[in-house]
Amino acid sequence: MTEITEAIQSRRTIRKFKKEPVPRETVEEILEAGRWAQSFNNAQPWKFVVVQEEGTKRRLSEEAGRSVYYRGIAEAPLTIVVCVDPSQEPSHWIEAGSIAHQNMSLATHSLGLGSSWIGILNSKAEEPIKKVLGIPKNMRVISLMPVGFADEKPERGRKPLQEIVYYERYGVGMSEDQE
Ligand SMILES: Cc1cc2nc3c(=O)[nH]c(=O)nc-3n(C[C@H](O)[C@H](O)[C@H](O)COP(=O)(O)O)c2cc1C
Repeated sequence: MTEITEAIQSRRTIRKFKKEPVPRETVEEILEAGRWAQSFNNAQPWKFVVVQEEGTKRRLSEEAGRSVYYRGIAEAPLTIVVCVDPSQEPSHWIEAGSIAHQNMSLATHSLGLGSSWIGILNSKAEEPIKKVLGIPKNMRVISLMPVGFADEKPERGRKPLQEIVYYERYGVGMSEDQE
């Protein structure tokens, strides 16, 4: 396996964090991973809000709790809020924000940290979170990404390839194709 494929397989969602702060250069390296995400026409329609202030994290946690499973926001030393401007890229803005989040999540893992994905888009929490952070009306909030040193080691699996991969035509499985 390469470093990247190993990182993809060993990354897990982390919802319990140590209090230990994350150095500023590390936060910037994570944000760089988001900046280098791919997007349709290289539109880069994203903005990232880094929240470290205790009171603001608590408010985000309260608002996220309206409709989503939100563990970790108040405890993690920081949360990155992934925002996107749909007017900059009307067809694929959700993918853009999602890829940026995924890049940052793999970066946190490769830097020895943990993170999670709190899904905010189209949830009851989206507008209240925009209010807390002063995010303009035209922007949408894809997700919150609490980041910190992991205080748990969860294990989660995936469906086997045989269950999800077809060759040449939908429904033609791996073994049938090889026969
Ligand atoms: C679009 C999306 C939304 C998610 N929303 C939440 C959420 O609101 N709360 C949460 O705790 N985890 C959330 N997750 C994390 C998933 O639950 C997690 O990725 C999945 O269970 C697989 O676990 P793993 O990432 O540890 O492999 C979300 C993940 C994605 C991709």
